[in-house]
This record gives sequence, C-alpha cells and structure tokens, in this order.
Amino acid sequence: MSAAEHAELFEHPDRNLAMELVRATEAAAIRATPFIGRGDKNAADKAAVDAMRKFLSTVNFSGLVVIGEGEKDDAPMLFNGEEVGTGQGPQCDIAVDPIDGTSLTAAGRSHAISMIAVADRGSMLDASSVFYMKKIVTSHEGIGVVDIEKPIGENIRALAKAKGKPVDEMRIAVLDRPRHEDLIRDIREAGAGTRLILDGDVASGINAARHDTRIDMCVGIGGSPEGVATACAIKALGGFMQGVLHPTSDDEKQRGSDAGLKFETIYGLNDLVSSDNTFFVATGVTDGELVRGVRRNGPLISTESIVLRARSGTLRRVSADHQASKWLDD
Ligand code: FBP
Repeated sequence: MSAAEHAELFEHPDRNLAMELVRATEAAAIRATPFIGRGDKNAADKAAVDAMRKFLSTVNFSGLVVIGEGEKDDAPMLFNGEEVGTGQGPQCDIAVDPIDGTSLTAAGRSHAISMIAVADRGSMLDASSVFYMKKIVTSHEGIGVVDIEKPIGENIRALAKAKGKPVDEMRIAVLDRPRHEDLIRDIREAGAGTRLILDGDVASGINAARHDTRIDMCVGIGGSPEGVATACAIKALGGFMQGVLHPTSDDEKQRGSDAGLKFETIYGLNDLVSSDNTFFVATGVTDGELVRGVRRNGPLISTESIVLRARSGTLRRVSADHQASKWLDD
C-alpha cells in the first residue's frame, strides 16, 4: 500500500465511516422512543446515550469526544475527552448529541434528533467551557452577503436580494426565548416572518442552509456545542455560518479565556471546524422538517436519517426498517 493510500485509509475518516455512524444515531433514536412524551428527559437522554455509546464502541476509528454530554464527573458516558471507537483506523474529533431536544422528546413534541459530527483530529473548536454562542446560518447565498455584526434587518434584506425573493417571504428561525425578544421584534419589523423553535437549533441551522425548506436563516443565541456540530453539517452543505461566544458570567468568561477562547472574535465556519473532511449524521427521534421520527409499523421499526459528507458535498437520506424483535433485549 502506498503512503498516500495508507493516509487515506487510516489517517483521515473515509466515506464508509458515515454509514457506520448512522447506525449509532439510529440506535439512540430507537432506544429513546419509549420515553417520548413520558415527561422524563433524563431517562430519554440516558437511553439514547447508552445506545449510542454501545454502537460507537464497534466503529473502526479512534474518536476523541470534543463535544459530549459534559465533563467526566457529571457525565458517566460520552464525556468530553473520552475516547470512543475500536481505536483502529482514522483519528477523529467527534461531537455527539444523543438527543438534541431532550425536552421536546419528553414532552412528545416534534423536531428532536439524535446526531453525531466527525472531523479530522484536532479540527473542531473546543468551546465546551462557554455554554452559549450567538449564531447565524444561511445557505451559500449568504456568503459575503450576511454578517453577524450587522443589524438583522440589513442581513435579511441582503439575503433576500441574493436569493431573489421578496423580504416578506423570508422565514427566520429563532429559539423562542425571552433573550430574543428584541431580535424577534426586529425580524418582524424588517418585514420577514419568524419560525420560533422551542428547542433544537441544530436541525433549524441545517434547514436554513438547505434549499428545499421554508427556512432562510437561523439566528440567535443557542448552545455553543450545538454550534460546532452544526458547522460540520454546514460545511457539507456549502452554506454560511458565523458564531460569537456568549458567556453569561465572569466565571464562565474566565474559564473560556483560560481555554484560549475569544469573545470579541467572529468564529467563521473554518474556525468552528478547520477540516474540510467533516461528516454529520442525524436520525429523527420525533417528526421534524429535517427527518421523520421513529415509527413502529407492525414487526418493523422505521427510522429516517441524513448523512452528510463535506468532501463529496452529499446529503443522503437513509430510511431503514429494523426488525423490532431484535430490539427487544440486548
Ligand atoms: P438539549 O436537548 O440538550 O436540552 O438542547 C436543546 C437546545 O434547544 C439546543 O438545540 C440549543 O442549542 C440549546 O438547547 C439552547 O439552550 P437553552 O435552552 O438554554 O436556551
């Protein structure tokens, strides 16, 4: 085997990895299903974490969890810094969110997904010391047109022009939070409509970068881990994204500074994830615009997932029918 072939096979994640990863998000989504609408988000999350971890342990790669379920002492599994996979194969950074939308799942609401993002080792921004990030995500039409520092109205008008659509047809996804009161008012005053989301800004960010959705832009303050994971998907979609870290206390600011993070800096897509070799997979837990949730059809459990790969720029939809009997116990 030539040095180049060796590097391709063992040093960088390759296309087969994506199909291995989707088994882990499918498993997490299936295992979370009995907890949909049961009001216990921790139980749903635990079921998803356990399943994802079990499947990841069989994948031939050496994954370092950069974005996981938190610090080691609080999170017994998939904690930041944990090594996952068989240890054979490419060395990667991995971001996991066994459920993005744990509250949605517990309430029985739509738009909860299970997701994994992977990129070359050392390429994901470790923003775990600062919980929140201000983000803006659009399709490729936003590149060189939209800027997180500009007023939202200006960004909406500029993007509408670039997309060739009237401002009043623009739909802007924002987490429905009191902190976004002014932002929501400004979007509406600019003549655009909001798509207020209860949770789950990873799926909304991805929808903003896709072309066959009703969302044109996703803005506002959400989780910074979710921001880095979103960036891995946006790379594959060729979209636009910027983030600015948003610490909410002096302590958090200090921890962020100690970790080398910057607060006045605009993190572009390449700052959030520097590798162009990114993978993103997500499976629907509950129904959403991005993917359908898990369904039981007689003896089958059906899942829908997306698999994105930046090198090829592909978005694949994976529909799978699983024999329910195989999931009864193990
Ligand atoms: P969880 O599923 O981990 O609860 O996260 C859901 C989520 O809505 C993310 O999608 C989002 O980035 C973040 O929480 C927003 O945080 P907050 O609920 O504190 O506004």
